[in-house]
Amino acid sequence: MYGRGSNLQSIIDAVKSHALDASIELVVSNRADAAGLTRARGAGIAAVFLNPREHASRDDYDQAMVDALRAREIWLVCLAGFMRLVGPRLLEAFPNRILNIHPSLLPSFPGLEAQRQALVHGVRVSGATVHLVTAELDGGPIVAQSAVSVIDGDSVESLSARILVEEHRIYPEAIRRVLENNWRIDGRRFVSGS
Ligand code: GRF
Repeated sequence: MYGRGSNLQSIIDAVKSHALDASIELVVSNRADAAGLTRARGAGIAAVFLNPREHASRDDYDQAMVDALRAREIWLVCLAGFMRLVGPRLLEAFPNRILNIHPSLLPSFPGLEAQRQALVHGVRVSGATVHLVTAELDGGPIVAQSAVSVIDGDSVESLSARILVEEHRIYPEAIRRVLENNWRIDGRRFVSGS
C-alpha cells in the first residue's frame, strides 16, 4: 500500500462485518506517511513502513518484504495502491498469491493514470479489475471486474470516484473467492471450481 488506503479500509470493513472470512495480519507500505498505515493501526492491525532507501536494490527491498510476510505466515498478499513494480523475489515467493486492484477494465489502460487514459481515449465504459499479479504489468489472470459508464463531462476526479465505489465492492469479493481456494488457472483465465 502506498497512500490513501481506501481499498485497505474496504477490506478491513469487510472483515469486521464478517462479509469476508479472513484475518489481516500485516499492512506494509513503502511510504512512512501513508494514511493506510494509520488506518491499519487504528483497526489494531500490525503495520510497517519498509523504507526503499534502506535497501540497495529492488531485489533487496523485495526480499525484506518477503521476510516480513513470511514471518507472519501470510498466505495472500493484496496490493492496494502499491505504486511499485512487484519484482521476481516477491512473485516467486508468492506465486498466484498476490492480488492487485486496477482502476480500468483490463486489458485496457494498464499502468499509471488509468482513469485519465480512459477519458483521453474516449471510451464510454471503464471500470475496475482485480487480478492475480504476474511479471506482466497489470496483466495477470482476472478474478473480478465491474464496469462503470463514462458520463459526458466526466473529469478524472468524477470518473475515479465512481470507479472507486466499485473497487471497494469487488476487492473484498475477489479476496473471498481466492481464499476459497477452489480455483485454477487455465491459460490466462482464473477459473472457479476445481
Ligand atoms: C486505486 O484507484 C487503485 O485502483 C489503484 O490505486 C488506487 C489506490 O487507492 N491501484 P487507495 O489507496 O486504495 O485509496
